[in-house]
Amino acid sequence: MYARIAGTGSYLPEHILTNEALAQRVETSDEWIASRTGIRQRHLAADGETTSDLALRAVERALEAAGTDKADVDLIIVATTTPDNIFPSTACTLQDKLGLQGFPAFDVQAVCAGFVYALTVADALIKTGAVKCAVVVGAEKLSNIVDWNDRTTCVLFGDGAGAVVLKASDEPGILASKLHADGRYRDILKTPASFKQGQIDGTPWIYMDGGAVFKFAVRALADVANETLAAAGVAQADVDWLVPHQANLRIIESTAKHLHLSMDKVIVTVDKHGNTSAASIPLALDEGVRSGRIQRGQLVLLEGIGGGFAWGSVLFKY
Ligand code: UT7
Repeated sequence: MYARIAGTGSYLPEHILTNEALAQRVETSDEWIASRTGIRQRHLAADGETTSDLALRAVERALEAAGTDKADVDLIIVATTTPDNIFPSTACTLQDKLGLQGFPAFDVQAVCAGFVYALTVADALIKTGAVKCAVVVGAEKLSNIVDWNDRTTCVLFGDGAGAVVLKASDEPGILASKLHADGRYRDILKTPASFKQGQIDGTPWIYMDGGAVFKFAVRALADVANETLAAAGVAQADVDWLVPHQANLRIIESTAKHLHLSMDKVIVTVDKHGNTSAASIPLALDEGVRSGRIQRGQLVLLEGIGGGFAWGSVLFKY
């Protein structure tokens, strides 16, 4: 029994904030942002638009692409760092917005690695036979926790959502996945706030030690990708597409180099939407599929890393 991606979907909110427009607010430039990160613009959700709203649009598109009736869905997992509320989970809210009920729905919090974590959990549940049709979503409204006066972080992040419909199948399917975490590094990327007696306790903005994150990410992503390929018995040269977490073009290029993959085998969307955390991998995957580059039967390698630190990789045959 395999878990196979039957369809993909994504959604980016309407409002686009370009590097030039950001440079009107903080001391930065399109040249600095583009040369250091590859980012040209990001999408920002409207005031009343929540993470579950973004997720809903992406899921509707994924269900349509999969030719799947929503009544067949028997699991929803939402990977998010910016849930609508502390509770209920964004997955439960999404379930209701889809007009569904009864089956399990829950959130996964692994920051930018959230989507590979969520996909791995859904794969495992499908393999037990308990689930036949899962919806796995990465959705974020990071603009809520970005300090728009801090040029070292506000240029990096954006809002969006991506989703896949994952079905039980005799055909492969997800072939291997590897997940890791190391809490000793939790302070280099964090939003260190909580609620206490009706007050915000701590700092509710994204903090990042960019250099430390960069160094950690380059090594960890190459290692986990190779580990996943080894687990599946697949050679680097047999990978058709790398769909990496979209945080920084230089990290993506470095990972591709470590894996001996040319950049024309890598789906890059970071220029269009910046770092959307858990949403970035499914956003890029959907772009790869809809542009006709990722074809049925090809081998696709996903990999993501982020706060925690948490990271992981999934290899599947599309
Ligand atoms: O999703 C989780 C994964 N996250 C990531 O992968 C992010 C990883 N890190 C990075 O992508 C990079 O470290 C950054 C893009 C965040 C920063 O790039 P960098 O090449 O490491 O720059 P830096 O932090 O070393 O800063 C270089 C200079 C500094 O000025 P001084 O101290 O040299 O005078 C910064 O103050 O650039 C300055 N700077 C800026 N200048 C213009 C920092 N941010 C900006 C900015 N515009 N937005």
